Amino acid sequence: MKRAYIAEALKGKDVDQEILVKGWVRTRRDSKGGFSFIELNDGSCFNNLQIIVDADLDNYQDEVIKLFPGSSISVKGTLVKSQGGGQSVEVKANEIKVYGFCDPDEYAVGKQRVSFERLREIAHLRVRTNTFGAVTRVRNKLAKATHDFFQERGFYYINTPIITANDCEGAGEMFRVTTLDPDAIPRNKDEVDYSKDFFGKESFLTVSGQLAVESFACGLSNAYTFGPTFRAENSNTSRHLAEFWMIEPEMAFADLADDADLAEEYIKYLITTVLNECAEDMDFFNKRIDKTILQTLAHVNESEFVRLSYTDAIDILSKSGQKFEFEPAWGNDLQTEHERFLTEKEFKKPIIVTDYPRDIKAFYMKQNDDGKTVAAMDVLVPKIGEIIGGSQREDNIQKLDSRIKEQGMELEPYWWYRDLRKFGNVPHAGFGLGFERMVQFVTGMDNIRDVIPFPRTPRSADF
Ligand code: 4AD
Ligand code: MG
Repeated sequence: MKRAYIAEALKGKDVDQEILVKGWVRTRRDSKGGFSFIELNDGSCFNNLQIIVDADLDNYQDEVIKLFPGSSISVKGTLVKSQGGGQSVEVKANEIKVYGFCDPDEYAVGKQRVSFERLREIAHLRVRTNTFGAVTRVRNKLAKATHDFFQERGFYYINTPIITANDCEGAGEMFRVTTLDPDAIPRNKDEVDYSKDFFGKESFLTVSGQLAVESFACGLSNAYTFGPTFRAENSNTSRHLAEFWMIEPEMAFADLADDADLAEEYIKYLITTVLNECAEDMDFFNKRIDKTILQTLAHVNESEFVRLSYTDAIDILSKSGQKFEFEPAWGNDLQTEHERFLTEKEFKKPIIVTDYPRDIKAFYMKQNDDGKTVAAMDVLVPKIGEIIGGSQREDNIQKLDSRIKEQGMELEPYWWYRDLRKFGNVPHAGFGLGFERMVQFVTGMDNIRDVIPFPRTPRSADF
């Protein structure tokens, strides 16, 4: 007999038919009337399927009453209309097969109200909780919606390298990749001789796939990458990971305004998809994690994102009368407190801040004619702050070269990137959306460590 998934079974189409389901026990309760009730979950949907087990079943005494949360079983039985409230159908079991028992004294996930902090220590099991099952299904849907969105609009999905010699963001926050023996590093004068290393030069884990996507957009018109990126910054916040996933589209023959429009359309597409296709999971988040999440997302979808310049943003912040830990001042980066003030208090919706000071942004951003600012944009959303960073790219090679040098970097590793400005140069623009921040935004989860299967943060790379 073919196994049915609980998501299908709960639709109730096959009432009075034989059914085979498999999954993990969430709870077992024994009633005095000679029955047990098992709540079974197989991950195919948020809800459990109720199994009714008669005490007459052969292995009832030996096995069924030893089924504690976490045990894995298969159930053959009849799908019937439910007698009790709360569910529409349930299974009357004829046969229960145990795959694996689960010791309730040792299985931490089965306990009542386990904290998210505790669950991080047992991240290999936390997906069996309601919250992490729901997060995982929503995350999966966001990934699918991402591909649908870009594919529908003629963007090619490309896989950009994980190992690179380029520091895309120029922030010096890269993890080194080397096969040199730390006990016998070959030295050249006083420096490490990287010509003896695996790639013959210093290499790192990428902080962004952007530079490579640019080269593909400048030939295919539109391309995007969706991959892991790595940042060795020592940020212990609820919004930073050392390893996170980023979606980076790039468009040739496009400017900053096109970039902002694409970003707004993409975010709304993701929200609409999740609201339409993950309704049960989203109801759970709205009940248990953030009671305003459905309202917030609906509101975001109806709003036109505000577009304002960095200079105007600083002006609003300075005149707000609000006390900030960091005084807003032209030339300094916006802090999370500033971003949250703008999105939550001032505008009460997402905003796209453009034209940041040149000196606080990466070398590749197009310099504006004022000589002070660049054609950059950050998309800021309530609670999270920055969710997207992007820009029009510098297509003037002299200006690009001087920015690379000003930031203390060598031109040599960027020779191929500079080539794009020499051979059939075009205006182009793109952005990066932090995937985990998007998962946080739609689920209302507080901590970014709880929206990725196995978080990598400073001093933590278990599992
Ligand atoms: O603003 P960032 O650094 O931009 C780039 O990397 C560009 N190369 C993107 C591009 O134009 N193609 O990062 C983009 C987004 C941020 O807005 C944020 O959402 C997320 O990536 N992000 C992080 N997410 C989790 N942990 C971190 N440490 C992150 N750093 C950035
Ligand atoms: Mg940024």
